[in-house]
Amino acid sequence: MTEPAVPEQRGREKVILVHILLRGEADGDEGEEFRHLAEGSGAVVEAMFTVRRDRRDPATFIGSGKVTELATAVAGSGAELVLFDRILSPVQERNLERALGCRVVDRVGLILDIFARRARTHEGKLQVELAQLSHLRTRLVRGWTHLERQRGGIGLRGPGETQLETDRRLIGDRIRMLRARLLKVASNRDTQRRARLRAPLPTVALVGYTNAGKSSLFNALSHGSSYTADQLFATLDPAIRRLSLPGHGTVLLADTVGFLRELPHELIAAFRATLEEVNQAQLLLHVVDASDPCWEQQAAAVEAVLEEIGAAAIPRLLVRNKMDIAGATAGIEYHASGEVAAVRVSALTGEGLPALLAVIAQQLAGKRVRAEVFLGPEEGALRARLQRIGTVLEESFTDSGASHLLVDMDELAWRRLCARHAGRLSGCHAIETPPTMRVQD
Ligand code: GTP
Repeated sequence: MTEPAVPEQRGREKVILVHILLRGEADGDEGEEFRHLAEGSGAVVEAMFTVRRDRRDPATFIGSGKVTELATAVAGSGAELVLFDRILSPVQERNLERALGCRVVDRVGLILDIFARRARTHEGKLQVELAQLSHLRTRLVRGWTHLERQRGGIGLRGPGETQLETDRRLIGDRIRMLRARLLKVASNRDTQRRARLRAPLPTVALVGYTNAGKSSLFNALSHGSSYTADQLFATLDPAIRRLSLPGHGTVLLADTVGFLRELPHELIAAFRATLEEVNQAQLLLHVVDASDPCWEQQAAAVEAVLEEIGAAAIPRLLVRNKMDIAGATAGIEYHASGEVAAVRVSALTGEGLPALLAVIAQQLAGKRVRAEVFLGPEEGALRARLQRIGTVLEESFTDSGASHLLVDMDELAWRRLCARHAGRLSGCHAIETPPTMRVQD
């Protein structure tokens, strides 16, 4: 399924953007990214104000002088909405709405709006609604007219409740209901995921900055028909397909939601189920838009989010996409050590995809490490676990019952174990990593 690349003009809101730079912040590409986000949510951008400030003004963030200037621009352009690229407090949002005489939406509200437009599956829609209501609850300072229509009147309004209290209570009820439904959906997902884990197919997840070309690559690699569009966040819910790798067999390929710089924390929580797919993967293909001059900053933003969701230990392969317009040839890039540094491809023309499949197969073949582990006599469970996931090459005991093991195991399994038992394995280390072989281009 494909949507029009540019949302229809009809019904689109006229907006003014406010891009804020605080002291010490350089004027990079954030303004343009913000414009892109706004357009991605279907807005018609009338103007963009770049505001430089030493610090946040607690009442309006941008200070009264700028507010007056902005109010004149709003009145002159007929803008219906002002979008801020920062997170505003409820008080700031309300003060700004009063002063500007129109709606004000902050960065969280904008991203939620984009998520809401893109949500496709039942779970995605529930997650977006939950995040929207949680965000709205903190901002509920007057009647919430949207709920008026749903109230249905009789029986719902408690004695002596003001309109505001009723609205808050209704939002609270709906949030509880959504959480309950999500729990149910999540347990279904868990069952499916466990079934996938039992069938021991490794998962390769595509991650990357929004618009990098993940869905296009997902389709090109798996010859499917996952939804793509030249709009931000075209992918909201993970899609999973089987992928056949030369000389390796079948793996699962997962597409994920696009990452963003400074993804607000409340959104990370709301989309944890989507991002969990990433945590289950054996290999992450980090897709970058090599034709974008800012790809390195975008890649850094993706890395920061991966760290935040606890996926930093999973090996990744850099995939430099859109080579057809980046002005370079497709192929494999190597580090001086002989390890693969990146694969250059074009999801659009298919160039570089056979090489990419070969590199994925090689990386999944698994690096091994030898780990030297010291365990106290009380660590029987951990010792049994090591025996299960690796091959114990040597083992010796002290008089006190402590053990010293030399274990050969998959590198990722070792890294996961270290992350899970950081305290108990602190004195242990991997002592050997066999070199990787060069893949033919
Ligand atoms: P989100 O869902 O927003 O995270 O986006 P995504 O990373 O999944 O990107 P998607 O695959 O939707 O591609 C974004 C845009 O880039 C679409 O217009 C694609 O047609 C285009 N695109 C993707 N890959 C290539 C490529 O190799 N070359 C060119 N020229 N365009 C590409």
